[in-house]
Amino acid sequence: MSTINAAITCVGGYLPEYVMTNAELEKIVDTTDEWITTRTGIKERRVLKGEGKATSDMGAEVVKQICEKRGIAPEEIDLVLVATVTPDMPFPSTANIICDKVGATNAWGYDLSAACSGFLYALVTGQRFIESGAYKKVVIVGADKMSSIIDYEDRTTCIIFGDGAGGVLLEPTEEEVGIVDSVLKSDGSGREFLNIKAGGSHKPASLETLKNKEHFVYQEGKSVFRFAVTNMADVSAEILKRNNLTGEDVDWLVPHQANLRIIEATRARVGIPKEKVMINIQKYGNTTAGTLPLCLWDWEKKLKKGDNLILAAFGGGFTWGSIYLKWAYNS
Ligand code: UT7
Repeated sequence: MSTINAAITCVGGYLPEYVMTNAELEKIVDTTDEWITTRTGIKERRVLKGEGKATSDMGAEVVKQICEKRGIAPEEIDLVLVATVTPDMPFPSTANIICDKVGATNAWGYDLSAACSGFLYALVTGQRFIESGAYKKVVIVGADKMSSIIDYEDRTTCIIFGDGAGGVLLEPTEEEVGIVDSVLKSDGSGREFLNIKAGGSHKPASLETLKNKEHFVYQEGKSVFRFAVTNMADVSAEILKRNNLTGEDVDWLVPHQANLRIIEATRARVGIPKEKVMINIQKYGNTTAGTLPLCLWDWEKKLKKGDNLILAAFGGGFTWGSIYLKWAYNS
């Protein structure tokens, strides 16, 4: 009996036009291009401008692009999963809104919240819907308008994050390509190091929370760095080991773009040469759920059918994980 594998068959991406450079940040907060570059690797990031513009607008562009590239109508999409920590509203879900904006009238969908690991979690969720045979066209979007939750007076966070969205189409195949294996982890005790303190049921919005700036991202950078460096490398090593792979078998490492030093530590740990690592942090910063699909989007033309890709991420929660997949097509 043949098995159904879930394969990425198309990639889309969207980046807002506005480029916020380190030079611009130097004028807003007490920082320097040199500090940002050496500590993070970031030179510039994008910001979604415009009244009422939201995460769904970026996600909708991604889904439209995927439909055009793949030559399918939005009505053919069965399911849309959106990984985001910046939904348009607490409810309805951004997935609902995207489906409406693109005319995916036969799709259902929902949002998934796992911060920087959101795309990994959503990809594995989508994989299961395909493998079950229930659905044929599942779109996974990773999208975040981080500028909506960043305090541009806080130099420890505003230099890192950017806005952007990416996504993939998952379809069934009987070929030996697609998502092979995944290791996903979480540890909620890490919530104290990276969070938004107010606006949820734990601490609803009030004048007090507004005054205390508790609706912005809070990060204890050093602690998160320590956990990220160890766990992203560990989980990548774990997925290689249990699939009997070494760094030499990997064609591309696709790491979450949070900090160039974290990426480098992961690369070194699993023994993958530098030229096989996707890095675009210098252009986009950390787009949270957007980083992994935006890497795939930027590198799509270089990917060949059968290539071994290792995706890895670490983020708020804590959440982290790694996916091993075999690329399914030549562009
Ligand atoms: O994607 C989700 C997961 N998030 C991450 O993976 C992020 C992990 N953390 C990091 O990437 C790093 O911790 C940061 C980039 C956030 C910070 O880098 P760091 O090397 O850990 O710096 P630090 O927080 O230890 O700060 C070092 C110094 C401090 O000054 P003192 O106390 O040594 O005088 C900070 O006040 O750098 C100062 N500093 C800055 N200086 C200039 C902090 N932010 C800035 C800044 N510009 N923007």
